[in-house]
Amino acid sequence: MATCQNEESANVTKALNVLITGATGDTGGFAVAQLLEKGHRVRALAHRKDDRSKKLEDLGAEVVVGDFLDFDAVRSAMEGMQRAYFCYPIIPGIIQATAYFAQAAKEVGVDGIVNMSQISARREAKSHSARNHWLAERVFDWSDVPNVAHIRPTYFAEWLLYMAPMIKQGVMQVPFSSGRHAPVAAEDQARVITEILENPAPHSGKIYPLYGPVEMTYEEISAEISRVIGKPIRFQSVSFDEFWEILGSASAYMPIAHVTRSMYGEFERKGQPRTGESYLAQHLRNVSIDHTNGVFAGTNDVIESIGGRPPTTVEAFVRANRQTFL
Ligand SMILES: NC(=O)c1ccc[n+]([C@@H]2O[C@H](COP(=O)([O-])OP(=O)(O)OC[C@H]3O[C@@H](n4cnc5c(N)ncnc54)[C@H](OP(=O)(O)O)[C@@H]3O)[C@@H](O)[C@H]2O)c1
Repeated sequence: MATCQNEESANVTKALNVLITGATGDTGGFAVAQLLEKGHRVRALAHRKDDRSKKLEDLGAEVVVGDFLDFDAVRSAMEGMQRAYFCYPIIPGIIQATAYFAQAAKEVGVDGIVNMSQISARREAKSHSARNHWLAERVFDWSDVPNVAHIRPTYFAEWLLYMAPMIKQGVMQVPFSSGRHAPVAAEDQARVITEILENPAPHSGKIYPLYGPVEMTYEEISAEISRVIGKPIRFQSVSFDEFWEILGSASAYMPIAHVTRSMYGEFERKGQPRTGESYLAQHLRNVSIDHTNGVFAGTNDVIESIGGRPPTTVEAFVRANRQTFL
């Protein structure tokens, strides 16, 4: 028995080959850095070569460029890997991408996957993205790939960075009022992802909601940011349509190199004809209603019990990113 445990812990600490997708994004970027720090060999799937992918190379990751919806590219990125993180952005195609990813993982014998989902993932979700995340979880469950764990974060603390251009102007105009959530930092999520990838068996089939430490309304969050940066911020609850217009306006336009380029790529296409509501807008409109209805509320101890450190407070997050808000 003692021998078995020793063998098991030796396996856990051995250097692993890990594929991180969404690697130039928020959670993927931190996961790459943390796995490398722990001595693992990381292959980072980037969507394009740019400053973000260069940063990953400088950290010591092997960067490969590919598209989730190109099966050959995914299969080739998976070659030789033992563990993988699946992080598909809020764009159409997640079911197809999940099937590609699971099949590629099976073909190479991957024995542990962390699947990024959402707190709002459920069968009856009105958001197409949320419902598709729920379905993607099920596809992984059917797939037979061993030891898949699903993480379901509430709104990321990084949302405050997405809104920094408006906060800089002393306002926070959002389609939220009485709903609460405990913003969860991508770096904290990455610790959970890293731990699970190192030792996936105990997490097989688990669904982990991920939260920050304290549930707050957006008005309380804006007051906290104001206190930390020492500048007044006027909070205003607006309709989703007003919010969407504000996000797309020049005053809120994201710098091109921002990690959420995939999300705000939406606005790079501004000016091109669009029919109907985009996938991202449909998602954000419906989850703003979910937020009011308490779907994003809650806290738990998963970040600390698996990730090993208490979750970051809004105060600490804003302090660490203070310059972004000034
Ligand atoms: N933000 C939240 O509050 C929140 C809350 C709960 C769950 N989630 C989930 O978190 C996930 C997003 O995670 P994140 O914020 O860490 O990522 P992220 O910052 O949105 O980055 C997404 C990454 O995916 C890459 N990408 C985009 N399209 C691709 C494609 N076709 N093929 C390959 N790579 C592609 C992007 O590269 P480029 O930028 O170069 O295109 C980027 O590196 C989503 O599944 C979302 O549902 C988010």
